[in-house]
Amino acid sequence: MNRPDPDFRSDTVTRPSAAMRAAMAEAEVGDDVYGEDATVQALEEQAADRLGQEAGLFVASGTQSNLCALLTHLARGDEVLSGESYHIVRYEGGGASVLGGALITPLPVDSCGGLAVGDIQAAIKPPDSHFARTRLLSLENTVHGVAQPLARLQALTGLARQAGLACHLDGARLMNAVLETGDEAAKFGQLFDSVSLCLSKGLGAPAGSVLTGSKPFIAAARRWRKMLGGGMRQSGILAAAGLYALEHHCQRLADDHKQASQLAAALNQTGGVRAEAATNMVFAMLDWQAAMGLPDWLAKQNIRISAPQKIQQGEAVLGRFRLVLHLDLDSRASSRLVEEIARYPGLQDI
Ligand SMILES: Cc1ncc(COP(=O)(O)O)c(C=O)c1O
Repeated sequence: MNRPDPDFRSDTVTRPSAAMRAAMAEAEVGDDVYGEDATVQALEEQAADRLGQEAGLFVASGTQSNLCALLTHLARGDEVLSGESYHIVRYEGGGASVLGGALITPLPVDSCGGLAVGDIQAAIKPPDSHFARTRLLSLENTVHGVAQPLARLQALTGLARQAGLACHLDGARLMNAVLETGDEAAKFGQLFDSVSLCLSKGLGAPAGSVLTGSKPFIAAARRWRKMLGGGMRQSGILAAAGLYALEHHCQRLADDHKQASQLAAALNQTGGVRAEAATNMVFAMLDWQAAMGLPDWLAKQNIRISAPQKIQQGEAVLGRFRLVLHLDLDSRASSRLVEEIARYPGLQDI
């Protein structure tokens, strides 16, 4: 297979390796809506086990996983508290409100990606017919690449439990947080009533997430998945890729983290760029005018990056790029990116 052009836009762009494709081709399958796909069941069990939960549900995507979780936790008029920059608040179309009649309340997120105990306390509404019923706290790990330490999540979920709330974790990239903190996935998982893990980000599967929780919770979520049109038939073909990813691609995330640190260090040697790494992501800042032209210029050198985000720092207007490392990028790809950025005629001092 030809190696694709370097693509730093996201860790979702990876293509299944030959070994992963072989596992998919050989998968034992059945009709999963009838509960007859052994490979899907094996994936659900293995994911639940790793996350310290009783049961799992294989779903099409991270968005479907979070949506099934929120619809299971919340009734109409209930409220979920979450971070203003978290995926369920910003990038999932407000699904729990649209389909479940639930209120999604965004809370401030600090520079480390965390929520403050005081903000959660202040947002929990007393039982009063004027208010939505605050029922759920939904956290994320990693948050824009930043691993959330176990102790911090313990403090937040502990507070939520005292107030009678359930807790959900969007652990799309939880395995990156596990490597970064050195704490087992089950330690994180046990703090939450439900945990979603994506297989198609750094883990490199072509599709799918697993939602995990107690047996009754997953039985209820399975109903929602069916209603959302997510009951799939011989989905063991896809689940086999997920199983392969869990077995072979968790430890190797360390390579992505190392490459991210090296890439940030190399970019910092390039005048006109300031960069920092967080797990498998690098955030690089350039002068805004320079930043706007960079993606097109790199595309001409067959390197893909996402568009910059405009930010103001004091007097300076800067463009902030997210560069994501993954298993289809090696150190040569990072070196090429640094060389091309150093050659970019638009570069300005910042
Ligand atoms: C933190 C987080 N949660 C959930 C999702 C949703 O995953 P999907 O794109 O598979 O729906 C993403 C996707 O990028 C994500 O970054």
